[in-house]
Amino acid sequence: MDPVPAPATAVLCLATLLLALPVASSIDDGINTTRSLFCEPAKCGDLTIGYPFWLAGTHPPECGHRAFQVKCDPGNASLKNAFWTYQIQNIFYHNSSFLVTNVELSAGDCEAQSRFNASSDLGLTPFNISTMNQELFFLFNCTRSRRQLPPSWAPVSCAGNEASNSYTWLAGKYKPDDGLKQLTGNCTVSMMPVLGFEGAKGADYQRLIKGGFLLEHTARQGDCMLCSESGGWCRVNVTNDLLECHCSDGVSPVFVCGKAILLLTN
Ligand SMILES: *[C@@H]1O[C@H](CO)[C@@H](O)[C@H](O)[C@H]1NC(C)=O
Ligand SMILES: *[C@@H]1O[C@H](CO)[C@@H](O)[C@H](O)[C@H]1NC(C)=O
Ligand SMILES: *[C@@H]1O[C@H](CO)[C@@H](O)[C@H](O)[C@H]1NC(C)=O
Ligand SMILES: *[C@@H]1O[C@H](CO)[C@@H](O)[C@H](O)[C@H]1NC(C)=O
Ligand SMILES: *[C@@H]1O[C@H](CO)[C@@H](O)[C@H](O)[C@H]1NC(C)=O
Ligand SMILES: *[C@@H]1O[C@H](CO)[C@@H](O)[C@H](O)[C@H]1NC(C)=O
Ligand SMILES: *[C@@H]1O[C@H](CO)[C@@H](O)[C@H](O)[C@H]1NC(C)=O
Ligand SMILES: *[C@@H]1O[C@H](CO)[C@@H](O)[C@H](O)[C@H]1NC(C)=O
Repeated sequence: MDPVPAPATAVLCLATLLLALPVASSIDDGINTTRSLFCEPAKCGDLTIGYPFWLAGTHPPECGHRAFQVKCDPGNASLKNAFWTYQIQNIFYHNSSFLVTNVELSAGDCEAQSRFNASSDLGLTPFNISTMNQELFFLFNCTRSRRQLPPSWAPVSCAGNEASNSYTWLAGKYKPDDGLKQLTGNCTVSMMPVLGFEGAKGADYQRLIKGGFLLEHTARQGDCMLCSESGGWCRVNVTNDLLECHCSDGVSPVFVCGKAILLLTN
């Protein structure tokens, strides 16, 4: 029996505790209310805007990622840095998705509808078009007569008469860059994702476009939650657009503040 190891371990534990104590007290003293509050979620109409989103004019840029900047016109939230105007209908923080409506396309402008390509427009953003969406096809200026076309193609009317002999068709689940070769009739073809609703058909295209489509993102919401639950502040480094966890004693590489204490109490 060797009596030495037990006291040695006890001393070592005590030493670790004592080393950890100053960290603990500095967390309590270090809470800077200004710093912790300035990224608090803000309201735009019925929407709550928080990480990874941030509200222009209310939040500083380090509250969220570049592509998630939201502009709030009275009661209307939209993504600020997109080519088209995407009105945000709803944000689902629990599953990292949000519902947007393309405002320009809702107006019934067939020229705009024929140019729209969601996968190329969103190709450079951190947003993915959810496979929960359906595909709404548009077929403009078809040369074949109505009788030669599938009956499921519903006629489309253009706000400014930019096309004649034009149709729309609601297909199945959204697939990125779905092949259009099977569509015959010599038409100018475009496709847009729509979330859809129970019993929707191509003829409901106006309501479908207004209803919008679901986008998914991969921002590190889980890491941000870990960080703030351990007393830190989620901040985005505006230089590289990456999430950082700011603790009272500096940036934590593991998105948790006061890690020494967490390990000891476990
Ligand atoms: C709190 O944080 C804000 C914003 O970062 C900073 O301007 C202010 O100087 C800080 N106050 C203290 C007491 O550290
Ligand atoms: C929001 O935008 C839509 C579409 O542009 C518009 O019809 C609506 O009036 C706007 N709502 C408010 C409160 O401004
Ligand atoms: C996220 O949740 C909302 C509401 O609970 C749901 O409508 C939406 O389809 C979900 N998104 C994904 C990508 O599953
Ligand atoms: C949309 O753009 C993608 C990528 O640029 C391309 O592969 C696809 O064929 C385009 N879709 C249509 C309908 O033009
Ligand atoms: C349909 O054809 C007309 C006449 O050639 C053209 O001006 C218009 O841009 C076309 N519309 C679409 C949506 O391609
Ligand atoms: C498609 O358009 C071309 C040129 O406009 C025409 O020659 C051809 O007959 C059309 N094809 C069909 C299947 O309508
Ligand atoms: C988005 O798409 C990319 C590339 O196709 C994929 O790696 C990533 O997992 C997707 N993210 C989501 C949230 O679906
Ligand atoms: C942001 O990231 C850059 C490059 O990784 C780094 O040099 C800089 O210190 C970071 N800024 C802050 C405020 O953390």
